[in-house]
Amino acid sequence: MKLTTLTAIAAAILPAIALPPGHPKPDFSLVGFAKDNPIGPTTGGEGGETVKVSTPAELIAAVTGDTPRIIYASGTFNLTARLRIGSNKSLIGTGTNTTIRGSGINIYNVANVVVRNLGIRFILNNDGITIQNSTRVWIDHNEFESDMLGGPDKYDGQCDIVRASDWITVSWNYFHDHWKSSLVGNSDILGDVDRGHLHITYHHNHWRHSGTRGPAGRFGHQHIYNNLYEDFLYQAIHSRSDNQVLVEGNVFRGNTSEALSTYGLVIPADSPNTSPEGDYELDGFANLGAKNDWGSSKINITQVGNFTKAPYKYQLTPLKEVQKLVIAGSGLGKVK
Ligand SMILES: *[C@@H]1O[C@H](CO)[C@@H](O)[C@H](O)[C@H]1NC(C)=O
Ligand SMILES: *[C@@H]1O[C@H](CO)[C@@H](O)[C@H](O)[C@H]1NC(C)=O
Ligand SMILES: *[C@@H]1O[C@H](CO)[C@@H](O)[C@H](O)[C@H]1NC(C)=O
Ligand SMILES: *[C@@H]1O[C@H](CO)[C@@H](O)[C@H](O)[C@H]1NC(C)=O
Ligand SMILES: *[C@@H]1O[C@H](CO)[C@@H](O)[C@H](O)[C@H]1NC(C)=O
Ligand SMILES: *[C@@H]1O[C@H](CO)[C@@H](O)[C@H](O)[C@H]1NC(C)=O
Ligand SMILES: *[C@@H]1O[C@H](CO)[C@@H](O)[C@H](O)[C@H]1NC(C)=O
Repeated sequence: MKLTTLTAIAAAILPAIALPPGHPKPDFSLVGFAKDNPIGPTTGGEGGETVKVSTPAELIAAVTGDTPRIIYASGTFNLTARLRIGSNKSLIGTGTNTTIRGSGINIYNVANVVVRNLGIRFILNNDGITIQNSTRVWIDHNEFESDMLGGPDKYDGQCDIVRASDWITVSWNYFHDHWKSSLVGNSDILGDVDRGHLHITYHHNHWRHSGTRGPAGRFGHQHIYNNLYEDFLYQAIHSRSDNQVLVEGNVFRGNTSEALSTYGLVIPADSPNTSPEGDYELDGFANLGAKNDWGSSKINITQVGNFTKAPYKYQLTPLKEVQKLVIAGSGLGKVK
């Protein structure tokens, strides 16, 4: 199927979600670095066979290899090992609660992967999704859930993006009840590997009740727009180790302590954002685009950088509509 056809289908299946009065229907098609990049748009399994899976064995078989394939998953998949997704795949949950648990997802050393409408819940000791050394990935309309009862290291990241991964969009996801949400660049000693990569668009995600990392980036460029943040214990957005963020049109609510920080040295030292090599690293850069609504949280920008404009077309949601639109449009059951 052509991308234009997919876009038309996406438009046709837009759900009846409760929108602010007078608001145009949200655009759930792919936007950002996973679409506009030097390699080409992320298409996942487009053009390949369509398969339906409902057992872990079927799921594992369907996502393996580089053959293009669109996989519709339904039910609860209690995995005993990490699910390794090959290149050219679209993995799409059906209904309102297709769930991955037991073990999370690795997107390692591959290209062109779409993951949509999956609940990724309570993945112990490792990330919900790890994207490593991979390009063109779209993580859209998923729900990432755990709890904050066991401290920062009971679970690892929800969606971590590492080792020179590039051209990624993370959109309309619901991330909640978790300490360390989305780490970009997993060490301050990996500058030689990561620098020049890690171009990621985060838009219209809903973060609620989190420790930190919405996201925390090193050595890359992240365009972070129209997200809703509620109740972060530490930094919601953290840019360090020469990383650049472009932050615009986001809304911060609840008890979020620090909306945005570029400080390398993290205080307090018990923050899960400290570096594994100690608690010192270089500061990052932050660039402010369209107005944000910081709520009652503070910002701490030590360096303004040069990532002042995203190199693609995108439509900003008016700031006053972001909260309602993101709550209505993010997470499971909003796309087919
Ligand atoms: C998932 O499977 C493990 C064994 O592999 C089992 O201990 C656990 O109870 C299962 N969880 C659910 C929610 O079924
Ligand atoms: C979704 O599925 C998970 C795992 O099967 C279950 O624990 C949870 O209660 C379900 N949530 C809803 C809202 O049905
Ligand atoms: C990164 O992935 C490519 C395949 O896309 C592979 O050829 C290469 O060896 C990988 N690099 C590392 C360091 O794993
Ligand atoms: C699938 O992915 C591989 C590795 O990324 C790529 O080289 C290949 O061209 C793709 N195949 C098709 C049919 O798109
Ligand atoms: C903010 O924190 C206070 C004190 O811990 C708590 O009572 C309140 O419910 C929190 N607000 C939200 C929106 O979670
Ligand atoms: C910024 O953060 C650093 C480290 O936490 C702190 O030392 C500094 O005082 C902060 N600056 C402002 C203006 O809050
Ligand atoms: C942007 O700023 C960084 C950090 O100072 C610098 O390394 C880079 O060369 C600059 N890029 C451009 C295009 O000026």
